[in-house]
Amino acid sequence: MTSTETLTMERFREAMSSFPSGVTIVTTADEHGTWRGFTASSFCSVSMRPPLVLVCLANTAECHSAFRSGERWLVHIISDEHTDLAKRFATRGADKFADAGFSADDGGLPLLADAAVKLTCDTYAIHSAGDHTILVGRVTRAETSEQTPTVYYRRRFHPLALDSSNGVPISAP
Ligand SMILES: Cc1cc2nc3c(=O)[nH]c(=O)nc-3n(C[C@H](O)[C@H](O)[C@H](O)COP(=O)(O)O)c2cc1C
Repeated sequence: MTSTETLTMERFREAMSSFPSGVTIVTTADEHGTWRGFTASSFCSVSMRPPLVLVCLANTAECHSAFRSGERWLVHIISDEHTDLAKRFATRGADKFADAGFSADDGGLPLLADAAVKLTCDTYAIHSAGDHTILVGRVTRAETSEQTPTVYYRRRFHPLALDSSNGVPISAP
């Protein structure tokens, strides 16, 4: 592409899909206590003091109002074991929580106990950004495990191969 060419949505999508990321399932409960959630790769760490993370949610998402008004939400960084669940949480209208292994945390939010990493967040700030909303959360609790997180790259899930002797990613020689 030359610098005079207009950026198309396809070109932008293609460029963004070339950035490997982890995958999260982000959950909350709406004002009626109904569980809500979506799959997000737009998750990242923001600040150490205070400990902040962010995730971007499409304004058109069904769960948008629940997250906009929710005071607490959970981020689950998932392993390969949960890629089918991530696909389900990326499907509008799906019965997302049915037989999926969630249980209520101490505040009634849907917790996936065997996720690779679990973060509990208090809503810290909400910013509008184009057709998405940036949810900034203050992390009040973080639980890690030995599970290896999955990787999303070029619209596919990829296992992250680790050397079992030292836990370091195996890269081609
Ligand atoms: C790997 C993956 C990553 C995604 N990341 C995001 C994201 O960061 N933000 C977002 O709004 N949607 C993302 N989506 C799409 C949403 O998960 C999907 O549109 C979801 O159904 C929205 O929630 P809703 O069912 O309440 O509308 C992603 C989908 C996949 C498969």
